[in-house]
Amino acid sequence: MTAVGIDALAFFTPNTYVDLTDLAQARGDDPAKYTIGIGQDQMAVAPASQDLISMAANAAAQLPAGSLDDRLGLVIVGSESGVDESKAAAITVVRLLGLSPWLRAYDIKEACYGATAGLLAARDYVAAHPDRTALVIASDIARYGLAASGEVTQGAGAVAMLVSAAPRLLIVHDDAVAYTADLPDFFRPTGLTVPVVDGHYSTQAYLDFVTRITARHQEQYGDVLTDYTALLFHLPFTKMGKKALAALTADDRLEDRRQAASVLARRVGNIYTGSLYLSLLSLLCHDKSMRPGDRLGLFSYGSGAVGEFFSGTLAADFSDRIDAAGVTAMLAARHRLTVPEYEAMFNAQLPLGDAAATVPLGGDSARFTVGGRRDHARWYRDNT
Ligand code: HMG
Repeated sequence: MTAVGIDALAFFTPNTYVDLTDLAQARGDDPAKYTIGIGQDQMAVAPASQDLISMAANAAAQLPAGSLDDRLGLVIVGSESGVDESKAAAITVVRLLGLSPWLRAYDIKEACYGATAGLLAARDYVAAHPDRTALVIASDIARYGLAASGEVTQGAGAVAMLVSAAPRLLIVHDDAVAYTADLPDFFRPTGLTVPVVDGHYSTQAYLDFVTRITARHQEQYGDVLTDYTALLFHLPFTKMGKKALAALTADDRLEDRRQAASVLARRVGNIYTGSLYLSLLSLLCHDKSMRPGDRLGLFSYGSGAVGEFFSGTLAADFSDRIDAAGVTAMLAARHRLTVPEYEAMFNAQLPLGDAAATVPLGGDSARFTVGGRRDHARWYRDNT
């Protein structure tokens, strides 16, 4: 059976952020609540010139040159930040990237789980057609509202993954165990720009899913968690990963790796669908002891809720299939917003429903940016 999995992975986040010590002071909270209690140091803030489509295209454009060739047969965008109730964001991404039209493109929505559904669908597609490749992009802006209880867990960014046979980054095994239950922990009814969320209930639901699903995985596949070199979690905030690991095991080695896998999320925040894959990138960028052949366990959670645990094995060239230096440079080049600047940016989004609007480029240096709306349709700039 041909090995299938992630051949390359790339990340994009907007070039503006808020330092959470500044935010804590503005909200009258102890900064330690944010940095220790919740485990977040900074939060990416998306200007109006970035939406899920521009961020998705910006992430995919950073995959290694030549990745998106004629073998590409499938493009899936996982997102819960949709800008259209009907048309798939993936279609616009195909056009922005100048890809061949001879492929299938669609979106998957199920809260933060959507990209995992996409990755596993892409895995099955490539397993059935090993001469083809697939592009899976997770792209989201997490918005809870100014001074809302979830405010400190906002963020923005996109992760693009090329899926192929004989992958050079991570072999994704066919061992996924999924669990679905209809829960009111977090949802965003049509027309609302921020979710309805019961934060404490949602963290309990997440913990219930992670213990239940990993126990089932162990029953079905005979593994134990210490078989894994690292366990990766969906990280709505990094303390959530700490709670999840503590609920499963007290292994110090896995705790060290959890910290390495949390470094990027601490600086970017929740990117919903991309969060689990940002933690994979973080581990590979920040733990120099990772080796080809190491086995990883990945836990995905999307409110509502669907959870899934699956495993992967690092491939021989994994460190060449991410751009660790590029990620460091992208984060270092970001502009630190004051809290009033962040609040103004938060409120300056393209208004819902207007047929025509223009978004100024401002200080956005990304390749793809939102230009505005004409006859209700969003248009994008390619700033190359
Ligand atoms: P909160 O009520 O502001 O915070 O909500 P808290 O009072 O629960 O405190 C948080 C932690 O800080 C606690 O630690 C406090 O003890 C500690 P814990 O008991 O949890 O270990 N603390 C301090 N620590 C040090 N120094 C201090 C201090 N003060 C307090 N001075 C909450 C926090 C995360 C609930 C909120 O931000 C929220 O609602 N976030 C959004 C929802 C969320 O992220 N849920 C996660 C699970 S659901 C999920 O992952 C799916 C999701 O990504 C969406 C999707 O699927 O699409 C969200």
